[in-house]
Amino acid sequence: MNTNDIITQKAAAIAEVNAAGDLAALEAARVKFIGRNGLLPQFMAAIKDVPGPEKKEFGQAANGFRNEVQAAVDARKEILAAQAEAAKSAAFDYTLPGSWPQLGSKHPITQIIERATAIFRTLGFTVADGPDIESPFNNFDALNVPADHPSRADKDTFYLDEKAPHESLLRTHTSPVQIRVMQSRTPPLRIIAPGRCYRRDTTDATHSANFHQIEGLYVDRRVSMADLKGDISYFAKQLMGPDVKVRFRTHFFPFTEPSVEYDFSCHVCGGKGCRVCKHSGWIEISGAGLVNPKVFGLVGIDPEQWQGYAFGMGVERIAMILYGIPDIRFLYDNDVRFLAQF
Ligand code: DAH
Repeated sequence: MNTNDIITQKAAAIAEVNAAGDLAALEAARVKFIGRNGLLPQFMAAIKDVPGPEKKEFGQAANGFRNEVQAAVDARKEILAAQAEAAKSAAFDYTLPGSWPQLGSKHPITQIIERATAIFRTLGFTVADGPDIESPFNNFDALNVPADHPSRADKDTFYLDEKAPHESLLRTHTSPVQIRVMQSRTPPLRIIAPGRCYRRDTTDATHSANFHQIEGLYVDRRVSMADLKGDISYFAKQLMGPDVKVRFRTHFFPFTEPSVEYDFSCHVCGGKGCRVCKHSGWIEISGAGLVNPKVFGLVGIDPEQWQGYAFGMGVERIAMILYGIPDIRFLYDNDVRFLAQF
């Protein structure tokens, strides 16, 4: 083997490297010529048999073989990698429509509760909380509900224990939060309490056994029906629009005296009468009144010193009116086609 052999082999090796059609063929050529068991180690091993004066030239040719074949491999690799990349992007169709992650939205019930909370916060109210499982005392007795009141019957209220006298129930309204707040804090008080309520109602378009209320309670030295009406009117305008008015109708609740039911003027027709307000111009919201002195007595607040107003409101009812939802069950079906509209 002499120097010329190496030079001839080098030309053949580089030609083969340049002809490699893909990365696998290129790697095979690299192993064949300059790999550990390839041609290069054979040249190196042959140096010892080369006559003295030619050794240097032979050694240089062997080094040249290694360097030039390696350079050819590197260059070819770059070309093949670029070709592979180009093929990949040619397969990508830039005209296909993109796929966007679906944007979530808050449930309409949550939205109403958040809006109502924000509005009452501007009047100095904070949010109070109470458990869904209540005692009959907090849910009824402390609210001055008589022992024989029909709402206490098993057919209206979910009791959690079988036998009377019952010890626990699923609260039928958010009013027991009033009791909890008045028992644990000292007046003046200004709270709202949004939350779930439960009644043994047969589900239809306007009733559900599980629904939401927002309770309000304001206790201070001097509180009148004018405060109640002013604050509810402010709330109604903030929530439904600046032209909405509030109307009180006398009513009875055991925990307030006097008691009213309150209506908002219809935000759709402005009170002229339309489908939403069933042509009356008014939409019934819920009940309110001045805290009954008997209730103050039951929670240990001196009725000679303190006065208060309280109100409730049905969250589903407000959501249905505000968003024009015709059936309460839509609010619980969790159908994305419905929920995505809010
Ligand atoms: N708790 C009553 C209900 O569920 C609503 C209500 C009426 C709450 C008058 C009040 C109130 O705080 O003063 O029907």
